[in-house]
Amino acid sequence: MAIYLDNAATSYPKPEEVYRGIEAFVRASGANPGRGGHRRAVEAEAMINDTRRLLARLFHAPRPERIVFGHNATDGLNMAIKGVLRPGDHAITSVLEHNSVSRPLNQLEKEGVITLDRLPATAEHLIDPDQVARAFRPNTRLVALTHASNVTGTIQPIGAIGRIARGRGVLFLVDAAQSAGVVPIDIENDCIDLLAFTGHKALLGPTGTGGLVVGERAEVRPWREGGTGGDSTRPVQPEEFPHRLEGGTPNIFGIAGLREGVRLLLERGVESVLEHERALIKTFVTALARRDRLQWYGADTVIAESQGVGRVGLVGVNVPGFAPSEVGAILDEQFDIAVRPGLHCAPYAHEHLGTFPQGTVRLSVGILTTADEMRRAAAAIDEIAAE
Ligand SMILES: Cc1ncc(COP(=O)(O)O)c(C=O)c1O
Repeated sequence: MAIYLDNAATSYPKPEEVYRGIEAFVRASGANPGRGGHRRAVEAEAMINDTRRLLARLFHAPRPERIVFGHNATDGLNMAIKGVLRPGDHAITSVLEHNSVSRPLNQLEKEGVITLDRLPATAEHLIDPDQVARAFRPNTRLVALTHASNVTGTIQPIGAIGRIARGRGVLFLVDAAQSAGVVPIDIENDCIDLLAFTGHKALLGPTGTGGLVVGERAEVRPWREGGTGGDSTRPVQPEEFPHRLEGGTPNIFGIAGLREGVRLLLERGVESVLEHERALIKTFVTALARRDRLQWYGADTVIAESQGVGRVGLVGVNVPGFAPSEVGAILDEQFDIAVRPGLHCAPYAHEHLGTFPQGTVRLSVGILTTADEMRRAAAAIDEIAAE
């Protein structure tokens, strides 16, 4: 039976509730949402707003209407980065970022719009809050950091960094692509001004969902302007949320699925999902007979000895003598196990690890992954390492 260990790319399979939620909505009321429209349009709008309320509970966001839907985390990150940075600004980011953070920032730097500092990570693959504090300049407007690295799995001290940024009057953008749905997030407590999330990973929704939570302090210029399903008289994008940043017909089928994913997470509790995922990684690491023959990227002892505290459910390994792409292909073709080899869209993180340009083999678990699957994955990797 196939084993899917690529949940950091997208969660699969989705829980039954998600499939059923999409189908029920598509069949019953799949209309284009719009205030003051016909009954089905109003129902669609109510479904989207209900999803906003559930996400607001999950993230402790005080104002659901400031949760803006887009296509994915990339969309939310672009919305934030291009919406708040202005000519002459300085931004701070890190080597652990996904290209969805690095590329828009690099492009703005290349065009001479902003200056940029990319902070290194510690040997434990963390961003040091003191280093962030030292990087501020008088013109710093934005600190943009990932909550959990999609390469090392390390959870960053975002609360400490958020409080420092708030104290300096600088906006804090958090990329929650790998953490939303699996690590507790408290927007108010962690002083987060902008939270980019994706719907199709640990939030358990379908692809094409995600967005941005916009705090009160952040002024975000719309980067996509258009129809908002309501007052059409204004010549430019309305000021009020969420319409300000939601031009165009939303992905209502996707959001209907996302609603069920978030509902399920609220019922189960994010902490319990994280515990489940950490236990699976521990099962994998301890089941490996040839653990010492593998190259690890800071994960093995930490996970085995401290129950994976400080990490989400992914590990990166390499098998000496094999390119990561070869290991990925063998696992896929001979063992029917799906993993993700390569750079994981985070080249600076691999430079930090010393694994650029080949990368690592990433195994990432999800809410439906089982301990038996992890033991079978460990046996397969043992077999490859024995060759
Ligand atoms: C840390 C991180 N940021 C951003 C993204 C981009 O997410 P999406 O594909 O939903 O735009 C990913 C996806 O792999 C990620 O892992």
